Amino acid sequence: MIYLDSAATSFHKPQEVAEAVYDAILHMGNSGRSGHEISLTSSRVIFGTRKKLAVLFGMDDPARVVFTANSTQSLNIAISGLFGKGDHVITTAMEHNSVLRPLYRKEAEGMELTIIPCDEKGTVRYDLLEQAVKPNTKGIVCTHGSNLTGNLVDIKRIGTFSREKGILFVVDASQTAGVFPIHMEEMGIDVLCFTGHKSLLGPQGTGGMCLRKGLEIPSFCVGGSGVQSY
Ligand SMILES: Cc1ncc(COP(=O)(O)O)c(C=O)c1O
Repeated sequence: MIYLDSAATSFHKPQEVAEAVYDAILHMGNSGRSGHEISLTSSRVIFGTRKKLAVLFGMDDPARVVFTANSTQSLNIAISGLFGKGDHVITTAMEHNSVLRPLYRKEAEGMELTIIPCDEKGTVRYDLLEQAVKPNTKGIVCTHGSNLTGNLVDIKRIGTFSREKGILFVVDASQTAGVFPIHMEEMGIDVLCFTGHKSLLGPQGTGGMCLRKGLEIPSFCVGGSGVQSY
């Protein structure tokens, strides 16, 4: 089969991916809940994956790599945890529904939203960023690569701008993780949301987010982890 829908999800995953999933089902236990070997093996594999992702995405603390079901879930957790009534957030006209819909929901609850348009070639109007910033601007949420046009956004430029202004920068790397270099530190990214099932070639139902040191997002879900839910 000739498959041309990889921007939606990758198909023909590498044999190694299928084998790793099979191996996990056969040999791994419940990570973090027990001290026996099959549980520890699973914890080690998970932490090893965190370490690899931290290197891939240019951040130095693997403990701040969080696994989720997909990018949609990561973006919802980031947007609903970081922004609220009275905050102002900037985004772009390039965004996927998994950015726009959580932002619209927040807007209905009293958050202010500004959408920076694109020019006729689908390039974000970076020149409009400065005038979009208000005293209550808390964050910029922006895709790295558009699923509609394939255009890349100059993340480093927006990240540098955000740092200068003291604004949080949340990046949707769904289309670029595994394809284009991403370095959170050098690009000024505070939260990087990624999916596992596109160009990272993982199974469906995988994704995550990387958080910059010092940034906390309130937990949206509690329970299931023993004595404390943090
Ligand atoms: C730019 C962009 N953001 C977010 C998503 C949502 O990704 P997921 O399927 O991991 O929820 C997609 C998926 O197509 C996407 O292309």
